[in-house]
Amino acid sequence: MNVLLLGSGGREHALAWKLKQSPDLKELWIAPGNAGTNEIGKNIDLSPLNFPEIRDFVLEKKIDMVIVGPEEPLVRGIQNFFLDNKNLKNIKLIGLSKQAAMLEGSKDFAKSFMKRYKIPTANHKTFTLKDFPEAINYLNSIEPPYVLKADGLAGGKGVIVCKNISGAEKVLEDILKNRKFGSAGEKVVIDHFLEGIELSVFVATDGKSYKILPEAKDYKNIGEGDTGPNTGGMGAISPVPFADKIFMNKVEERIIKPLINGLKNGNIDYKGFLYIGLMNVNGEPFVIEFNVRLGDPETEVIIPRIKSDLLEMFVAMADQKLSKYKIEIDERTAATVILVSQGYPDKYEKGKIISGLENITSSIVFHAGTFKDINGNFATNGGRVLAVTSIDYDMQKAIDISMENAKKIIYEGKYYRKDIGSDLQKYNL
Ligand code: AMP
Ligand code: GLY
Repeated sequence: MNVLLLGSGGREHALAWKLKQSPDLKELWIAPGNAGTNEIGKNIDLSPLNFPEIRDFVLEKKIDMVIVGPEEPLVRGIQNFFLDNKNLKNIKLIGLSKQAAMLEGSKDFAKSFMKRYKIPTANHKTFTLKDFPEAINYLNSIEPPYVLKADGLAGGKGVIVCKNISGAEKVLEDILKNRKFGSAGEKVVIDHFLEGIELSVFVATDGKSYKILPEAKDYKNIGEGDTGPNTGGMGAISPVPFADKIFMNKVEERIIKPLINGLKNGNIDYKGFLYIGLMNVNGEPFVIEFNVRLGDPETEVIIPRIKSDLLEMFVAMADQKLSKYKIEIDERTAATVILVSQGYPDKYEKGKIISGLENITSSIVFHAGTFKDINGNFATNGGRVLAVTSIDYDMQKAIDISMENAKKIIYEGKYYRKDIGSDLQKYNL
């Protein structure tokens, strides 16, 4: 089978790494990919958002399956583009439809959907510029901290939590009046604050049935002790010790089943991944957000724990035979530590030569922002540079191996959090 994988992060390297282990894989292309994916398959310099170019490439290279990594092509309707084209509609596309992608593309849509299907989430109200005075009144009527969310896609920066009312009013003004997030901020969702510990649950769907993939916890802040600005993710652990059978059963009954039923009821086509961002509030799960893709860096710990054939799962998803697929999960813990560029998530430099990768044998190193320079050296090419994943029966051991190996990788300005997983120790009895 010839496969085209769209995306360029650690998530895509992890998917490529696993797909390569499938006996059914013939050719693997990654658009645009990174230096890591190019070692596994062939990178092709195509934008995942340029649908006509993707169409031409898919037809020319006789691609049988397209796997969509990031959300933006889904929100822009790549699945619908394939279905509407007579030459493409029989190609297996792993990714949700534009309507289903609204679960990620519009926080207001996601909130209304959850209310309709009684899926537990924080209470909220949505406002536009014309309701500005009401929005201010609403903020003043609820307790701090205040959670303000730009409705649309804002590159992971659209959620702001403010401790005091003056800060919250300023954020509201920035989004609605000063259009800080452009059209993504035409609506603002004001959420009640949920106090608890977060985790992410992943579901593969085929439009009829679903499989729950390993859950994970990621570390969003740049600084140790969850301080400083949000990033794409600085590390992840799977499984999550507090996500025991009782908790996961609540997630399935209260969230996953009503969500899948809601999509069915609304005639919303869905074949792909659902990523459910959850808050565990005293043992009760509440949805913080939906995404329509796999998480990054969560994929770098989920995928190494899936023992069964991933390409076979994708085929089952595309053919709506997922109920027959047997997913096998490794019970060991996977831990990943993300190495980033100095300055990330703000401004950072690129092009720093990376050395020491050849010394790593006890971890899997997934590339994120990397390229190979003209002299054949690996070099940095993004904020998040590498993900160092290790697996062990003991969670702390898995973390320690990743930390040791993170030390051995050298480039100018390397930074990583040394406290990944330390908050989970108390649950890991
Ligand atoms: P999101 O992009 O919706 O995942 O939000 C980014 C981060 O904001 C989440 O990972 C949470 O840490 C935080 N957050 C979002 N909504 C809430 C909420 N209702 N209560 C507490 N924290 C929240
Ligand atoms: N790890 C967070 C995300 O993928 O959005």
